[in-house]
Amino acid sequence: MASGVLLSRGAAFIGKNTRNVRFASTRTVTLIPGDGIGPEISAAVQKIFAAASVPINWEPVDVTPVKGPDGKFGIPQAAIDSVNKHTVGLKGPLMTPIGKGHRSLNLALRKEFNLYANVRPCKSLEGYETLYKDVDVVTIRENTEGEYSGIEHEIVPGVVQSIKLITEDASMRVAEYAFSYAKSNGRNKVTAVHKANIMRMSDGLFLRCCREAAKKTPEIKFEEKYLDTVCLTMVQDPSQYDVLVMPNLYGDILSDLCAGLVGGLGLTPSGNIGLNGAIFESVHGTAPDIAGQDKANPTALLLSAVMMLRYMELNPYADKIEKACFAVIREGQKLTGDLGGKGKCSEFTDEICKKIETASS
Ligand code: NAI
Repeated sequence: MASGVLLSRGAAFIGKNTRNVRFASTRTVTLIPGDGIGPEISAAVQKIFAAASVPINWEPVDVTPVKGPDGKFGIPQAAIDSVNKHTVGLKGPLMTPIGKGHRSLNLALRKEFNLYANVRPCKSLEGYETLYKDVDVVTIRENTEGEYSGIEHEIVPGVVQSIKLITEDASMRVAEYAFSYAKSNGRNKVTAVHKANIMRMSDGLFLRCCREAAKKTPEIKFEEKYLDTVCLTMVQDPSQYDVLVMPNLYGDILSDLCAGLVGGLGLTPSGNIGLNGAIFESVHGTAPDIAGQDKANPTALLLSAVMMLRYMELNPYADKIEKACFAVIREGQKLTGDLGGKGKCSEFTDEICKKIETASS
């Protein structure tokens, strides 16, 4: 299995050191189509993979929560078994009920598979104009603890407490991952994003782990910045940033901000890297307002699938699909509504398939 360090800064999301296909035989990947637009964009990805003759089989699983023996709702065992068996998964968006029902399935998946690092590359796309040119940043977010540890309780009626949990183990492994990612992907600098001036103990521990990891990787520059400073300067001049590593909540917010710099959530892929495998997913939600209407943009899920192919060392297929996708966006004829076009999801998908088939013939 690949080291889990993926993507680099050549062309958008393209690995610098393109490796040969190691797995000539067909491998199986777990597919979680998800809710809302999830099934539509998953079907689009499957169609494009078929056009590119990617040697993988999909094993679709349903993650609709089921009631366990303890009366709590959780991920069905079949889905857990599938990811554990195949160690690589592609996931569409999942609906999260607000303030009631089962807890976030996204959180449950991250916990279940120990997906400790969330990696989001945000790179300007040629032909799709935004306020910023040449954005090329990667956010690496601690994915298992912090404010999202799920430890909340009511002290007395009207007073609730939410615990931010930071551990040395989790901070160290994500900090080391960030440096190893930077090194393997031809990047120059890692910025640790924190608020250790206010949260001296929790963010202080996170920061100390980043400093430790930096010492072990002297060839990569290291800097420390406050979260508020990064927000301000990121929107003034994103080119000063390269790889950024941070605790969970900061990463959740800052990674969406970075997605906004390059055109929004419909374009941004992500990978959740774990100890024994990885799940790749689009960062947007279920888009209930356009679900079932053939209006969704499948690019984010497709580029997440491209990240997945690089993780599996299937780089030539990743390159072929990514090139076709970027060409369709650059030509601008079949863009979906979120990108200012009138194209349908199916038309955009077919256009990518056509490009792949033309390139292969
Ligand atoms: P959302 O991302 O679903 O939608 C926000 C806006 O962006 C909507 O106007 C939607 O139409 C548009 N949009 C999103 N993805 C698009 C795509 N691929 N193509 C075209 N337009 C797209 O965010 P919202 O409405 O806050 O959340 C809806 C549901 O999704 C909630 O239940 C939320 O919990 C869940 N969610 C799940 C995520 C995940 O599974 N990773 C991430 C974010 C939200």
